[in-house]
Amino acid sequence: MPKTTVLFASNIDDPAPWKALFARERPDVEFRIWPEMGDANDITHALVWRIPNGVLKSLPNLRAVFSLGAGIDQIVVDPDFPREKPLFRLVDAGLREQMTEYALYGVLHWHRRMRDYAAQQAAQQWKMHPAVHPSKRSVGVMGMGVFGSDIACKLASLGFEVSGWSRTPKSVDGVTSFAGEKGFSSFLARSEILVNVLPLTDETRGILSTRLFDQLPGGGALVHLGRGGHLVEADVIAALDTGKLDFAMMDVFPTEPLPAVSPLWTHPRAFVTPHIAAQPVDDAAEKLVIENFNRFERGEEPVGRVDLSVGY
Ligand code: NAP
Ligand code: GLV
Repeated sequence: MPKTTVLFASNIDDPAPWKALFARERPDVEFRIWPEMGDANDITHALVWRIPNGVLKSLPNLRAVFSLGAGIDQIVVDPDFPREKPLFRLVDAGLREQMTEYALYGVLHWHRRMRDYAAQQAAQQWKMHPAVHPSKRSVGVMGMGVFGSDIACKLASLGFEVSGWSRTPKSVDGVTSFAGEKGFSSFLARSEILVNVLPLTDETRGILSTRLFDQLPGGGALVHLGRGGHLVEADVIAALDTGKLDFAMMDVFPTEPLPAVSPLWTHPRAFVTPHIAAQPVDDAAEKLVIENFNRFERGEEPVGRVDLSVGY
Protein backbone atom coordinates (compact mmCIF):
# COMPACT_ATOMS: atom_id res chain seq x y z
CA MET A 1 0.00 0.00 0.00
CA PRO A 2 1.41 3.45 -0.92
CA LYS A 3 2.55 5.66 1.94
CA THR A 4 0.05 8.13 3.41
CA THR A 5 1.18 11.62 2.45
CA VAL A 6 -0.32 14.91 3.60
CA LEU A 7 0.04 18.06 1.53
CA PHE A 8 -0.08 21.25 3.63
CA ALA A 9 -0.90 24.55 1.87
CA SER A 10 -1.54 27.96 3.37
CA ASN A 11 -0.63 31.54 2.61
CA ILE A 12 -1.28 32.58 6.23
CA ASP A 13 -0.44 29.65 8.53
CA ASP A 14 3.02 28.64 9.71
CA PRO A 15 3.52 25.01 8.62
CA ALA A 16 6.03 24.27 11.43
CA PRO A 17 3.57 23.35 14.23
CA TRP A 18 1.54 21.21 11.81
CA LYS A 19 4.65 19.40 10.61
CA ALA A 20 5.67 18.81 14.24
CA LEU A 21 2.16 17.57 15.05
CA PHE A 22 2.25 14.90 12.35
CA ALA A 23 5.84 13.95 13.24
CA ARG A 24 4.75 13.45 16.85
CA GLU A 25 1.31 11.86 16.39
CA ARG A 26 1.65 10.13 13.04
CA PRO A 27 5.34 9.49 12.30
CA ASP A 28 4.24 6.98 9.64
CA VAL A 29 2.76 9.83 7.57
CA GLU A 30 4.85 11.89 5.19
CA PHE A 31 4.23 15.65 5.47
CA ARG A 32 4.89 17.88 2.47
CA ILE A 33 4.52 21.63 2.27
CA TRP A 34 3.20 23.35 -0.84
CA PRO A 35 4.81 24.21 -3.29
CA GLU A 36 7.33 21.40 -2.51
CA MET A 37 4.72 18.77 -3.40
CA GLY A 38 6.90 16.16 -5.08
CA ASP A 39 5.07 13.50 -7.09
CA ALA A 40 1.34 14.36 -7.25
CA ASN A 41 0.55 10.63 -7.16
CA ASP A 42 1.85 10.39 -3.58
CA ILE A 43 -0.60 12.86 -2.01
CA THR A 44 -3.44 11.16 -0.15
CA HIS A 45 -4.72 14.00 2.10
CA ALA A 46 -4.64 17.80 1.92
CA LEU A 47 -4.55 20.20 4.87
CA VAL A 48 -5.40 23.54 3.40
CA TRP A 49 -6.24 27.18 4.02
CA ARG A 50 -5.67 28.23 0.40
CA ILE A 51 -4.00 26.41 -2.47
CA PRO A 52 -3.71 27.58 -6.09
CA ASN A 53 -6.66 26.67 -8.29
CA GLY A 54 -6.41 23.31 -9.99
CA VAL A 55 -3.82 21.73 -7.66
CA LEU A 56 -6.28 19.60 -5.67
CA LYS A 57 -7.86 18.33 -8.87
CA SER A 58 -4.44 17.25 -10.11
CA LEU A 59 -3.97 14.78 -7.22
CA PRO A 60 -5.18 11.36 -8.47
CA ASN A 61 -4.92 9.60 -5.09
CA LEU A 62 -6.43 12.35 -2.91
CA ARG A 63 -8.82 10.90 -0.32
CA ALA A 64 -9.89 13.90 1.77
CA VAL A 65 -9.36 17.62 2.32
CA PHE A 66 -9.16 19.21 5.78
CA SER A 67 -9.68 22.96 6.09
CA LEU A 68 -7.39 24.96 8.36
CA GLY A 69 -10.35 27.25 9.05
CA ALA A 70 -13.96 27.13 10.18
CA GLY A 71 -14.87 28.51 6.77
CA ILE A 72 -14.19 26.69 3.50
CA ASP A 73 -15.11 29.30 0.88
CA GLN A 74 -11.41 30.08 0.36
CA ILE A 75 -10.92 26.45 -0.72
CA VAL A 76 -14.04 25.86 -2.81
CA VAL A 77 -13.52 29.16 -4.64
CA ASP A 78 -11.30 26.98 -6.86
CA PRO A 79 -13.55 26.22 -9.86
CA ASP A 80 -11.71 22.90 -10.20
CA PHE A 81 -12.12 21.87 -6.57
CA PRO A 82 -12.80 18.10 -6.66
CA ARG A 83 -16.31 18.27 -5.20
CA GLU A 84 -16.63 14.49 -4.90
CA LYS A 85 -13.88 14.40 -2.23
CA PRO A 86 -14.89 14.70 1.44
CA LEU A 87 -14.10 18.15 2.87
CA PHE A 88 -13.93 18.78 6.63
CA ARG A 89 -13.80 22.15 8.41
CA LEU A 90 -12.78 23.28 11.87
CA VAL A 91 -15.73 23.13 14.27
CA ASP A 92 -15.17 25.51 17.19
CA ALA A 93 -11.50 24.48 17.63
CA GLY A 94 -10.86 27.20 20.19
CA LEU A 95 -12.29 29.91 17.92
CA ARG A 96 -15.77 30.14 19.43
CA GLU A 97 -14.87 32.14 22.55
CA GLN A 98 -12.94 34.65 20.46
CA MET A 99 -15.74 35.07 17.93
CA THR A 100 -18.14 35.68 20.81
CA GLU A 101 -15.75 38.16 22.48
CA TYR A 102 -15.43 40.10 19.22
CA ALA A 103 -19.18 40.23 18.61
CA LEU A 104 -19.93 41.26 22.19
CA TYR A 105 -17.19 43.87 22.09
CA GLY A 106 -18.69 45.42 18.93
CA VAL A 107 -22.22 45.40 20.34
CA LEU A 108 -21.13 46.89 23.68
CA HIS A 109 -18.83 49.43 22.04
CA TRP A 110 -21.78 50.97 20.22
CA HIS A 111 -24.43 50.31 22.89
CA ARG A 112 -22.31 52.07 25.59
CA ARG A 113 -21.30 54.88 23.15
CA MET A 114 -17.60 54.22 23.65
CA ARG A 115 -16.78 55.81 20.28
CA ASP A 116 -18.39 59.07 21.47
CA TYR A 117 -16.64 58.92 24.83
CA ALA A 118 -13.24 58.30 23.16
CA ALA A 119 -13.82 61.41 20.98
CA GLN A 120 -14.86 63.37 24.06
CA GLN A 121 -11.72 62.32 25.92
CA ALA A 122 -9.61 63.51 22.97
CA ALA A 123 -11.40 66.88 23.28
CA GLN A 124 -11.19 66.83 27.11
CA GLN A 125 -14.96 67.07 27.22
CA TRP A 126 -16.94 65.83 30.28
CA LYS A 127 -20.43 65.07 29.01
CA MET A 128 -22.87 62.31 29.96
CA HIS A 129 -25.22 60.67 27.46
CA PRO A 130 -28.42 58.94 28.58
CA ALA A 131 -28.10 55.18 29.17
CA VAL A 132 -30.23 52.60 27.35
CA HIS A 133 -31.21 49.37 29.11
CA PRO A 134 -30.13 46.31 27.07
CA SER A 135 -33.74 45.04 27.02
CA LYS A 136 -34.50 48.10 24.88
CA ARG A 137 -31.81 47.15 22.35
CA SER A 138 -32.64 44.57 19.71
CA VAL A 139 -29.73 42.61 18.30
CA GLY A 140 -30.04 40.31 15.28
CA VAL A 141 -27.50 37.56 14.70
CA MET A 142 -27.22 36.36 11.09
CA GLY A 143 -25.96 32.77 11.13
CA MET A 144 -26.92 30.63 14.12
CA GLY A 145 -24.36 27.84 13.86
CA VAL A 146 -21.41 27.09 16.14
CA PHE A 147 -20.45 30.75 16.50
CA GLY A 148 -23.77 32.56 16.01
CA SER A 149 -25.70 30.50 18.55
CA ASP A 150 -23.03 31.15 21.21
CA ILE A 151 -23.02 34.89 20.40
CA ALA A 152 -26.82 35.05 20.55
CA CYS A 153 -26.95 33.11 23.81
CA LYS A 154 -24.34 35.34 25.52
CA LEU A 155 -26.05 38.53 24.27
CA ALA A 156 -29.36 37.25 25.64
CA SER A 157 -27.69 36.53 29.00
CA LEU A 158 -26.65 40.22 29.12
CA GLY A 159 -30.30 41.17 28.77
CA PHE A 160 -30.40 42.21 25.10
CA GLU A 161 -33.47 41.48 23.01
CA VAL A 162 -31.95 38.92 20.62
CA SER A 163 -33.10 37.37 17.35
CA GLY A 164 -31.29 34.84 15.20
CA TRP A 165 -31.55 34.16 11.49
CA SER A 166 -30.57 30.84 9.93
CA ARG A 167 -31.56 28.58 7.06
CA THR A 168 -33.50 26.27 9.37
CA PRO A 169 -35.35 27.30 12.57
CA LYS A 170 -33.39 27.16 15.85
CA SER A 171 -34.30 26.81 19.48
CA VAL A 172 -31.92 28.83 21.68
CA ASP A 173 -33.05 30.04 25.12
CA GLY A 174 -33.96 33.72 25.09
CA VAL A 175 -33.48 34.07 21.32
CA THR A 176 -36.29 34.54 18.79
CA SER A 177 -35.65 32.41 15.72
CA PHE A 178 -36.23 33.52 12.12
CA ALA A 179 -35.46 31.25 9.20
CA GLY A 180 -34.95 31.46 5.47
CA GLU A 181 -36.02 34.06 2.96
CA LYS A 182 -39.51 34.10 4.54
CA GLY A 183 -38.27 35.30 7.93
CA PHE A 184 -35.57 37.64 6.65
CA SER A 185 -37.44 40.96 6.40
CA SER A 186 -39.09 40.58 9.83
CA PHE A 187 -35.69 39.67 11.31
CA LEU A 188 -34.01 42.74 9.78
CA ALA A 189 -36.84 45.08 10.78
CA ARG A 190 -36.13 44.34 14.45
CA SER A 191 -32.30 44.32 14.30
CA GLU A 192 -31.08 47.68 15.60
CA ILE A 193 -27.68 46.05 15.91
CA LEU A 194 -26.88 43.44 13.25
CA VAL A 195 -24.17 40.85 13.86
CA ASN A 196 -23.10 38.89 10.77
CA VAL A 197 -21.46 35.52 11.26
CA LEU A 198 -22.77 33.66 8.21
CA PRO A 199 -20.62 31.41 6.04
CA LEU A 200 -19.91 32.65 2.51
CA THR A 201 -22.02 30.72 -0.01
CA ASP A 202 -23.75 31.47 -3.31
CA GLU A 203 -26.82 32.51 -1.26
CA THR A 204 -25.00 34.81 1.18
CA ARG A 205 -22.48 36.50 -1.13
CA GLY A 206 -23.06 40.27 -1.16
CA ILE A 207 -25.80 40.02 1.49
CA LEU A 208 -24.57 43.14 3.34
CA SER A 209 -25.91 45.46 0.67
CA THR A 210 -28.19 48.49 0.36
CA ARG A 211 -31.16 46.12 0.02
CA LEU A 212 -30.39 44.78 3.49
CA PHE A 213 -29.40 48.10 5.11
CA ASP A 214 -32.68 49.64 3.88
CA GLN A 215 -34.64 47.07 5.90
CA LEU A 216 -32.92 47.78 9.24
CA PRO A 217 -34.60 50.13 11.74
CA GLY A 218 -32.00 52.81 10.85
CA GLY A 219 -29.34 54.61 12.86
CA GLY A 220 -28.04 51.35 14.36
CA ALA A 221 -24.85 49.33 14.13
CA LEU A 222 -23.29 46.51 12.13
CA VAL A 223 -20.80 44.03 13.58
CA HIS A 224 -19.43 41.99 10.68
CA LEU A 225 -17.19 39.01 11.35
CA GLY A 226 -18.40 36.53 8.72
CA ARG A 227 -16.55 36.72 5.41
CA GLY A 228 -15.38 39.59 3.22
CA GLY A 229 -17.53 38.41 0.31
CA HIS A 230 -20.67 39.23 2.31
CA LEU A 231 -19.89 42.92 2.25
CA VAL A 232 -20.67 45.33 -0.59
CA GLU A 233 -18.14 47.97 0.38
CA ALA A 234 -19.73 50.88 -1.52
CA ASP A 235 -23.10 50.06 0.06
CA VAL A 236 -21.82 49.99 3.64
CA ILE A 237 -20.03 53.31 3.03
CA ALA A 238 -23.26 54.81 1.67
CA ALA A 239 -25.20 53.48 4.68
CA LEU A 240 -22.66 55.04 7.06
CA ASP A 241 -22.63 58.33 5.13
CA THR A 242 -26.40 58.68 5.22
CA GLY A 243 -26.70 57.57 8.86
CA LYS A 244 -28.73 54.49 7.93
CA LEU A 245 -25.95 52.87 9.92
CA ASP A 246 -24.43 54.85 12.76
CA PHE A 247 -21.49 52.50 13.19
CA ALA A 248 -19.88 49.48 11.57
CA MET A 249 -17.23 47.29 13.13
CA MET A 250 -15.80 45.07 10.42
CA ASP A 251 -13.22 42.31 10.53
CA VAL A 252 -13.44 40.88 7.01
CA PHE A 253 -13.45 42.61 3.62
CA PRO A 254 -13.97 41.77 -0.07
CA THR A 255 -10.21 42.31 -0.61
CA GLU A 256 -7.79 41.46 2.21
CA PRO A 257 -5.65 43.20 3.29
CA LEU A 258 -8.11 46.10 2.98
CA PRO A 259 -6.60 48.23 0.17
CA ALA A 260 -4.96 51.52 1.23
CA VAL A 261 -7.43 53.42 -0.98
CA SER A 262 -10.49 52.10 0.86
CA PRO A 263 -12.48 54.95 2.46
CA LEU A 264 -13.26 52.57 5.32
CA TRP A 265 -9.77 53.09 6.79
CA THR A 266 -10.58 56.67 7.71
CA HIS A 267 -14.37 56.69 7.87
CA PRO A 268 -15.37 58.27 11.20
CA ARG A 269 -18.16 55.71 11.74
CA ALA A 270 -16.09 52.64 10.79
CA PHE A 271 -13.97 50.43 13.02
CA VAL A 272 -11.68 48.20 10.94
CA THR A 273 -9.81 45.13 12.22
CA PRO A 274 -7.54 42.87 10.10
CA HIS A 275 -9.40 39.49 10.08
CA ILE A 276 -8.52 38.76 13.70
CA ALA A 277 -11.93 38.04 15.22
CA ALA A 278 -10.69 34.51 15.86
CA GLN A 279 -7.20 33.13 15.44
CA PRO A 280 -5.71 29.81 16.52
CA VAL A 281 -4.36 30.50 20.01
CA ASP A 282 -3.67 27.05 21.40
CA ASP A 283 -3.49 23.51 20.05
CA ALA A 284 -7.28 23.03 19.79
CA ALA A 285 -7.24 23.19 15.98
CA GLU A 286 -4.29 20.79 15.83
CA LYS A 287 -6.03 18.34 18.17
CA LEU A 288 -9.21 18.45 16.11
CA VAL A 289 -7.40 17.97 12.80
CA ILE A 290 -5.33 15.00 13.98
CA GLU A 291 -8.39 13.43 15.61
CA ASN A 292 -10.36 13.93 12.40
CA PHE A 293 -7.49 12.60 10.31
CA ASN A 294 -7.26 9.45 12.46
CA ARG A 295 -11.02 8.95 12.42
CA PHE A 296 -11.09 9.22 8.65
CA GLU A 297 -8.23 6.70 8.37
CA ARG A 298 -10.13 4.25 10.61
CA GLY A 299 -13.25 4.61 8.45
CA GLU A 300 -15.12 6.59 11.14
CA GLU A 301 -16.93 9.87 10.45
CA PRO A 302 -14.82 12.96 11.34
CA VAL A 303 -16.59 16.06 12.69
CA GLY A 304 -17.27 19.03 10.42
CA ARG A 305 -18.10 17.41 7.10
CA VAL A 306 -19.05 20.16 4.68
CA ASP A 307 -22.24 19.76 2.69
CA LEU A 308 -21.26 21.21 -0.66
CA SER A 309 -24.87 21.13 -1.86
CA VAL A 310 -25.59 24.03 0.56
CA GLY A 311 -22.03 25.42 0.52
CA TYR A 312 -21.03 25.19 4.22
P1 NAP B 1 -21.82 26.94 10.95
O1 NAP B 1 -21.81 26.25 12.27
O2 NAP B 1 -21.83 26.12 9.72
O3 NAP B 1 -23.08 27.94 10.97
C1 NAP B 1 -23.52 28.58 9.82
C2 NAP B 1 -24.87 29.23 10.13
O4 NAP B 1 -25.26 30.03 9.01
C3 NAP B 1 -25.98 28.20 10.34
O5 NAP B 1 -26.85 28.63 11.36
C4 NAP B 1 -26.71 28.20 8.99
O6 NAP B 1 -28.08 27.84 9.06
C5 NAP B 1 -26.58 29.65 8.62
N1 NAP B 1 -26.75 29.85 7.17
C6 NAP B 1 -25.98 29.36 6.17
N2 NAP B 1 -26.49 29.74 4.97
C7 NAP B 1 -27.59 30.48 5.24
C8 NAP B 1 -28.54 31.15 4.44
N3 NAP B 1 -28.48 31.11 3.10
N4 NAP B 1 -29.55 31.80 5.04
C9 NAP B 1 -29.64 31.82 6.40
N5 NAP B 1 -28.77 31.22 7.22
C10 NAP B 1 -27.75 30.56 6.64
O7 NAP B 1 -20.57 27.94 10.83
P2 NAP B 1 -19.67 28.55 12.00
O8 NAP B 1 -18.71 27.53 12.49
O9 NAP B 1 -20.57 29.22 12.98
O10 NAP B 1 -18.84 29.64 11.16
C11 NAP B 1 -19.49 30.71 10.50
C12 NAP B 1 -18.52 31.52 9.68
O11 NAP B 1 -17.68 32.33 10.50
C13 NAP B 1 -17.48 30.73 8.86
O12 NAP B 1 -18.05 30.16 7.71
C14 NAP B 1 -16.47 31.81 8.52
O13 NAP B 1 -16.83 32.43 7.31
C15 NAP B 1 -16.61 32.82 9.67
N6 NAP B 1 -15.37 32.94 10.44
C16 NAP B 1 -14.79 34.16 10.58
C17 NAP B 1 -13.64 34.30 11.35
C18 NAP B 1 -12.99 35.62 11.57
O14 NAP B 1 -11.89 35.66 12.13
N7 NAP B 1 -13.60 36.72 11.20
C19 NAP B 1 -13.08 33.17 11.98
C20 NAP B 1 -13.70 31.94 11.81
C21 NAP B 1 -14.85 31.83 11.03
P3 NAP B 1 -28.54 26.38 9.58
O15 NAP B 1 -28.25 26.38 11.07
O16 NAP B 1 -29.97 26.32 9.30
O17 NAP B 1 -27.69 25.37 8.85
C1 GLV C 1 -11.12 32.04 9.73
O1 GLV C 1 -11.51 32.99 9.15
C2 GLV C 1 -11.70 30.73 9.66
O2 GLV C 1 -12.50 30.44 8.74
O3 GLV C 1 -11.39 29.90 10.56
